[in-house]
Amino acid sequence: AAGKAIPVALLGASGDLAKKKTFPALFGLFRNGHIAPTTRIIGYSRTKIDRPDYLKRISQYIKNTSDPQVKAMLDRFLDQSTYVSGLYDQDSGFQQLEHELKRVEQETGAQDRLLYMALPPSVFIPVATGLKRNCYTTKGINRLIVEKPFGMDLESSRVLSKALAALYREDEIYRIDHYLGKEMVKNIMILRFSNQIFRSCWDKDHISNVQITFKEKIGTEGRGGYFDEFGIVRDVMQNHLFQILSLIAMETPASLNAEDIRNAKVDVLRAIPEVIESEVLLGQYGRSEDGTLPSYLDDETVPKGSKQATFAAAAFHINNPRWSGVPFVLKCGKALNQQKVEIRIQFKDMGEGLFHKNDMARNELVIRVQPDEAVYLKMTQKLPGLGMETVMSELDLSYASRFTNLSVPDAYENLILDAILGEQSNFVRSDELDEAWRIFTPVLHKIDRGLVPVETYPYGSRGPEKVADFIARFGFERHQQE
Ligand code: BG6
Repeated sequence: AAGKAIPVALLGASGDLAKKKTFPALFGLFRNGHIAPTTRIIGYSRTKIDRPDYLKRISQYIKNTSDPQVKAMLDRFLDQSTYVSGLYDQDSGFQQLEHELKRVEQETGAQDRLLYMALPPSVFIPVATGLKRNCYTTKGINRLIVEKPFGMDLESSRVLSKALAALYREDEIYRIDHYLGKEMVKNIMILRFSNQIFRSCWDKDHISNVQITFKEKIGTEGRGGYFDEFGIVRDVMQNHLFQILSLIAMETPASLNAEDIRNAKVDVLRAIPEVIESEVLLGQYGRSEDGTLPSYLDDETVPKGSKQATFAAAAFHINNPRWSGVPFVLKCGKALNQQKVEIRIQFKDMGEGLFHKNDMARNELVIRVQPDEAVYLKMTQKLPGLGMETVMSELDLSYASRFTNLSVPDAYENLILDAILGEQSNFVRSDELDEAWRIFTPVLHKIDRGLVPVETYPYGSRGPEKVADFIARFGFERHQQE
């Protein structure tokens, strides 16, 4: 149901993130009636354009506008969209924004505000300062959405957090990790805590190892400037994959309250020692084997001779009674053979049994985050036929066939709606961020200084050759058919 009308000020309205994610998500929510029909969107950026030009730009970001219904909603959305052009480090622009916010509030009766910073880190604090000084309402609730990167390491993240904490309270800050808005990531808590069969075997006595994998088929393709500064560990592993790890590994939260959920996540992070260099494998993609696809260094936006990692695998250990001895292996990479994100919970061996010797494949629970959302459990069955032969097969829940009339919402729609409703569970709290940086910082510093070897792998491959041995070292056994 549509909530209260709340003006959304989108700072960085002409940037890439706004174009690809924020505007389409806002429109999706508006179009499907998830936000109030009177919701006003105020764009803000340095680009000097007038309103008609601005609206033209937004409409280009929206898909399927040939459908008359979509078009009608888009016209309405545009009708309620305005634009303020201003600098990021001077009050005058923010004063104009405040003026616009007030005008909208008078018109709609709204009291709360959502301020969305879709901005590069360099202007992060100046903008938050300008917003606090000029656009802070005392009539309702202020909510500030911030986007990664939240620093480069523990120290820089703390500097940022401190500067932000001087301006906004933690309950006003919504740090986005868009993986927390994904359907399957939101499903983890329900799967774990609402099914007796999983609840009772979710520990070191039953589980051998956990693998969380992120694979992209494309390389940096023109985004090399940003990427090279951060590398795959900061871009994907320290945030997106670590959020998944906390949800898989945390203890049962005391309640569904945002603070209880985040407390449980922080607790498990506290039990994870810093990752060590000998348990990290790095790679950078070279040209594809047939020479048709470019190497990372062929990307013109990548600095010459860069040693930045586009692939990383690392093992994590959780020193608590539930998990001690169970490695969590995280893998992520660009320019690989597949496009997919999945979680594999590999159970322990059966040992010798009635139907087999020690060679039986293990049970494995797979949660496929994307594409084609699915949950399946690999298990041993009787091979149909006259004999008593066994075969590994799956209990298979595929969303496309099970939930035919339901669509999976976009992660950004999920999170923006939560922010509008003031629901913070799926946003990153500052102590969570701090713990994640603590775990990664020492090895990141070594990587930055070139002290961790980076293997080359062909574009379109499974990653560095050593990856198979690496995961085997942590107890992972690949099933025959894969
Ligand atoms: C972003 C990273 O946070 O997540 C990108 O910066 C990555 O490098 C992207 O491609 C992946 O998101 P998704 O939703 O496409 O899996």
